[in-house]
Amino acid sequence: MRQQYLVVFLCVFAFVRLEEEPGLDLSRVSEAIQQDFFNLCNGIGLLHKNVHGDVVTIDNIKFYLWRTKKSKKYTILDPRNPTKLINKKAQYVFFVHGWLENVNTSWYNNLKHSFFEINPELYVIQVDWSEYAGKDYIIALYDTREVGNLIGKLIINLHQTYSVPLDNFMVLVGHSLGGQVCGFAGKHIKKYLGKKIPRIVALDPAGVFFEDAPESEKLNPEDASVVEVIHTSGGRIGYKEPCGTIDFFPNGGSWQAGCIKEAIFNMTDLKTKVSCSHFRSWRFYIEAVANPQSFRARKCKSWEDYTKKPDSCEDDYETMGDLHTHKRGKYYLITNENPPFSQ
Ligand SMILES: *[C@@H]1O[C@H](CO)[C@@H](O)[C@H](O)[C@H]1NC(C)=O
Ligand SMILES: *[C@@H]1O[C@H](CO)[C@@H](O)[C@H](O)[C@H]1NC(C)=O
Repeated sequence: MRQQYLVVFLCVFAFVRLEEEPGLDLSRVSEAIQQDFFNLCNGIGLLHKNVHGDVVTIDNIKFYLWRTKKSKKYTILDPRNPTKLINKKAQYVFFVHGWLENVNTSWYNNLKHSFFEINPELYVIQVDWSEYAGKDYIIALYDTREVGNLIGKLIINLHQTYSVPLDNFMVLVGHSLGGQVCGFAGKHIKKYLGKKIPRIVALDPAGVFFEDAPESEKLNPEDASVVEVIHTSGGRIGYKEPCGTIDFFPNGGSWQAGCIKEAIFNMTDLKTKVSCSHFRSWRFYIEAVANPQSFRARKCKSWEDYTKKPDSCEDDYETMGDLHTHKRGKYYLITNENPPFSQ
């Protein structure tokens, strides 16, 4: 019983207080519970029970629109009245950040540059849901569904009222909890239009508490025509099992090359090192979009087979981040420790 309590405390603590130096003497934590962080947290369904999400409103979600590479500044899109900003010929790309992030997260800007490299006339929409993503992890997690629904509603509105073809919503890119938000957006659109959006790219989508949830409550292969998932800290912060139509497992999908593997109970480490692997997902993707064909991956049953019995793998290759792929299955690759990450 005591151990259980301690585990609950550590989970909540670790997630909620990443930003602080707790000054706890964690070396005293009993050997018995020094297991993997994710297993600990995942084993405790009880945290779910008494928590409710917020009432999520569209006014608290901001949409920063960049129209063309030459734009010096974003325009704020009013989801209730997008008329002037909408172009039914444009290709739309949405970015959705993760827990504790906001529109100023570095990957938004860098990924925007990568997309403009391949198409200078895109409409890039950077979603800011920090009003909800800034809450305790458990609350933010509950809010992902409603935030996703509202993004879905915006897309439905642009499609129905402003005649933007569904195929013009090229890709929804979400990191961590944002990957789950994209899943909910896709589910909402499918439910109301009976059609799927073309593509979701989930960058190390959140696994904690989602891994055990039913399919309807998490990102799954039915949420878009193509659901590409890049797993980089699977089983710890990220989602471990395949959950897309195509799943990439760079370096096995759990720990990334160049990120030091350390005891999970060192809080300094938790912030810098565990998130190192988690954040590799967007580092890889920024590079992959700007340099299509760079991250060549091979279809295989497991990382074990890929590394130890490559002859047993299929003669089937695909590039991670390829915006045209329709292939399905699990793909493995090795990356460099430092940029450029592709080999
Ligand atoms: C993002 O950065 C800009 C410029 O520094 C600042 O004005 C704005 O408040 C920031 N936005 C958020 C959501 O923190
Ligand atoms: C925790 O990690 C930090 C950074 O790597 C290190 O300086 C510190 O000594 C570690 N603390 C313990 C108790 O191992």
